[in-house]
Amino acid sequence: KGELLTLETMSTVEISTILQEAEHFAQGKQWKVDKDLFIANLFFEPSTRTRYSFEVAEKLLGLHVLSFSEENSSVQKGESLLDTVKTFEAIGANALVIRHPENNYFKEIRGKISIPIINGGDGSGHHPTQSLLDLLTIQQEFERFSGLNIVIVGDLRHSRVARSNADVLTRLGAKVKIAGPREWMAGFDTTYEHVSLDDTLLECDVVMLLRIQHERHDGSMEWSKEGYHQQFGLTLEREKRMKKEAIILHPAPVNRGVELASELVECDRSRIFKQMKNGVAVRRAVVKRALT
Ligand code: CP
Repeated sequence: KGELLTLETMSTVEISTILQEAEHFAQGKQWKVDKDLFIANLFFEPSTRTRYSFEVAEKLLGLHVLSFSEENSSVQKGESLLDTVKTFEAIGANALVIRHPENNYFKEIRGKISIPIINGGDGSGHHPTQSLLDLLTIQQEFERFSGLNIVIVGDLRHSRVARSNADVLTRLGAKVKIAGPREWMAGFDTTYEHVSLDDTLLECDVVMLLRIQHERHDGSMEWSKEGYHQQFGLTLEREKRMKKEAIILHPAPVNRGVELASELVECDRSRIFKQMKNGVAVRRAVVKRALT
């Protein structure tokens, strides 16, 4: 009850319900728990936005937040993920937020604890709350998903954001295309049309750029930052060819001057910081759902 591991099996009706609640929070709704409840944020991978926007959301909901640092925990003594989460359940946590480098880490613990898990990102698998905040940002802009042209650009193979978003946006009626180096499209290129950014820019409503995930690359493909920017990135010149009302999304952190020109990070079309702000509203809705 209340867990959120992926959006894959979640109906579009339930997704809309979460977005509606998140929009209420974004517009100033106040809601707090009426008893002592504890939540633990277990991050086994670095994070700034997800970790701290969950923490802000949890504090706004009146929860006691247990912060966890892998380096100072008994994980260093060899304790497994399962025993770590069972420990938090035993000491009184009512829900867990987990980010972990292993794809589908939650399969190992699901059914072995009775408190809800909220996935804060699993390897290159899923990032459901990032998808929800991206959806909220798109919905605020266009008030619909159906018929929107969306291009997801860049390091798709390593991106849990791309995996979650491409599927859910398609189910909601958007037309999703992919762009970027063909070698980085594995797992996507049989489902989505691969296009060049130059060919699709004129028709796009949303240009969703992805961070190049250096830490997940194995060094088998040679590329340079400048070469990538010129061939696949959103340059100043390409931005001028976007539709008047089109917007730029990026989950961040951004490699400035690579995925997009540094000047575009805060340009009129950019919703990058709006996405982060919406992250708090979405996480308030998701944590409330987990605990009620
Ligand atoms: N977008 C995102 O997940 O950022 P963090 O890795 O900083 O949490």
